[in-house]
Amino acid sequence: MVNTRIVESLCSSQPDDSITIQGWVRTKRQLKEFAFIEVNDGSCLTSLQVILDTSLSNYEEVLKKLNTGASVKIDGVVVTSQGKGQRIELKAYSVKVLGGADPQTYPLQKKRHSFEFLRTIGHLRPRTNSFGAVFRVRNACSMAIHQFFQERGFMWVHTPIITASDCEGAGELFHVSSLNPKTISCVNSQAGEYTQEFFGRPTYLTVSGQLEAEIMAMALTNIYTFGPTFRAEKSNTSRHLAEFWMIEPEMAFYNLQENIDLAETFLRHIFQYVTNKCLEDMEFFNKRIDNTVLATAENIINNQSERISYTEAIKLLEKANVKFEYPVVWGLDLQSEHERYLCEQIFKKLVIVTDYPAEIKAFYMRLNDDNKTVAAMDILAPKIGEIIGGSQREERLDILEKRLISQEIQPEKLWWYLDLRRFGTAPHAGFGLGFERLIQFMTGMSNIRDVIPFPRTPENVEF
Ligand code: 4AD
Ligand code: MG
Repeated sequence: MVNTRIVESLCSSQPDDSITIQGWVRTKRQLKEFAFIEVNDGSCLTSLQVILDTSLSNYEEVLKKLNTGASVKIDGVVVTSQGKGQRIELKAYSVKVLGGADPQTYPLQKKRHSFEFLRTIGHLRPRTNSFGAVFRVRNACSMAIHQFFQERGFMWVHTPIITASDCEGAGELFHVSSLNPKTISCVNSQAGEYTQEFFGRPTYLTVSGQLEAEIMAMALTNIYTFGPTFRAEKSNTSRHLAEFWMIEPEMAFYNLQENIDLAETFLRHIFQYVTNKCLEDMEFFNKRIDNTVLATAENIINNQSERISYTEAIKLLEKANVKFEYPVVWGLDLQSEHERYLCEQIFKKLVIVTDYPAEIKAFYMRLNDDNKTVAAMDILAPKIGEIIGGSQREERLDILEKRLISQEIQPEKLWWYLDLRRFGTAPHAGFGLGFERLIQFMTGMSNIRDVIPFPRTPENVEF
């Protein structure tokens, strides 16, 4: 018999249907004459209740000893559920235990485990309700993102992971080296000091696909990237990962306002898509993790974000008369405490801050006419802070060269990037959405390590 996914059985199987399901036992209730088990296959939050009775040939020998965590294949007939809260259940007529799980050593028992504990068993945590829900939402977000861009004629381009350039200029680079003698050369090989370079040149794991995305946009007009990026972050916070995913659309002939409008429509689309596709999971987050999750989604879908300039933001923060840890001074970057204050205390919604001081932003951002600020935008979310960073790009060769020099970057190193300004330059703009920060914002999960299947931390690098 063909296997039925549990989500389909719960939605569309009817009493008297014969079906086969496969999954993992979540709970077992042993009564005198029979047992109830709940089986989950990850296709949805709810588990399917299955009745095992003494007429099953392996009841005494195998099924009585069945435990949480075991994998099973069950043929059965769908019956109307007598219990509350579920429409149907399955009365088993054959149960095969594919793999047992010793209750003495299986770490996931029927109780709430802390997220800290679950991080120590990253290979088993996808089998919990919370992580199942996170990964289904993550999947739906990915689909929403591709759908949004594909429907608008944006092309998905694949940018390199290994690169010689530091897009953000923040120096948070992971160096790439090779152990293969054919592809390495040893530099600095004085007395015992070896740096093994990739094909003889210093290269790094990419911090952003933007510069390559600009190349592609200057030929294909509207493109986006969606891939992993790496930052050797010093900060051990609940919002930073060393390996995270980023979505970076880049649009030729766009200015800052058009860029902001696109970002806002984009976020609205993702929230709409995910609340439609994963309502059960979103309700779960609202009930168990953060009771503002559904209201936030509704707010994003129905309301405009607040748009203010950096200069206005500084004035508002100064006026707030709050003792922040970091100073509020024009010319210094906003810290996450400031970002959160703007979103949570002043506006109570997404806030888009534009026109930051040139000195604190990357070289590629377009200089405004005031010669002091750049056409940048950050989108700030309650409880998280920055989720999107973007800008109109500097398309004027002479000004870009000056900006590079003022940031102590040798223009020759970015000769190809400058070529884009030499040959057929055009206004263009783009932004980067931190995928995990989006998932955090959407689900209310408080630690970024709990919204990516395999967070890279010193404790978690084996798989
Ligand atoms: O603001 P950032 O550094 O911007 C860029 O990388 C640009 N090249 C984007 C562009 O214009 N194409 O990073 C963009 C977003 C941030 O807003 C944040 O959401 C996320 O990436 N991000 C991180 N997420 C998790 N862990 C980290 N260490 C992150 N660093 C940035
Ligand atoms: Mg940023």
